[in-house]
Amino acid sequence: MSDGIANVFRHLTTGVHVIGVADGDRRNAFTASWVVQVSFRPLLLAISINPAHASYTLLQGGRVFAINVLRAEQQALAKHFGTQSGRTVDKLAGIRWRAGRTGAPLLHGALAFFDCQVVSDVEAGDHRLVMGRVVDGAVLIPAGHPLIYAATGDLDQSAELYPKEFCKWR
Ligand SMILES: Cc1cc2nc3c(=O)[nH]c(=O)nc-3n(C[C@H](O)[C@H](O)[C@H](O)COP(=O)(O)O)c2cc1C
Repeated sequence: MSDGIANVFRHLTTGVHVIGVADGDRRNAFTASWVVQVSFRPLLLAISINPAHASYTLLQGGRVFAINVLRAEQQALAKHFGTQSGRTVDKLAGIRWRAGRTGAPLLHGALAFFDCQVVSDVEAGDHRLVMGRVVDGAVLIPAGHPLIYAATGDLDQSAELYPKEFCKWR
């Protein structure tokens, strides 16, 4: 069981986000907890994305992404965008969204959003660290509270992805 180390990593407090991507008229979105601010001037945010995701192809082509910050009540959206691929289902169908300044999808009812243009895309182990310059953003629900990654439990099924040798930690 590697759930012990997964539990340690859940104590890195992050929110849960839906990352919208667009390449022209082609759009998709996926759930991501690995999102961080990395600079004030210029304003830069970074996401970490598995290059096997359908979203990565659109991200590479369009070089834009939007970070939709989920509210505590939006766990169902985290599941919708985070447990199925845009290769097999149109995840944006039936969801209220609009195109942001970059063209990336912004979800109606999210806590806040950031609209970004990609400035770099580098290998980071089995993921890609994609940095974006923030070109737009707003708080949409000022009284809302963020969904915290730890509250999603093993929704991302990451417990089995941690190296087995870490099991001996606990
Ligand atoms: C709570 C949660 C957090 C996730 N965080 C990330 C993440 O930070 N980076 C990532 O690449 N995938 C993450 N995922 C997995 C993707 O959202 C998932 O594999 C998705 O189905 C990919 O969609 P796509 O193939 O349509 O791009 C997360 C999933 C969940 C449920």
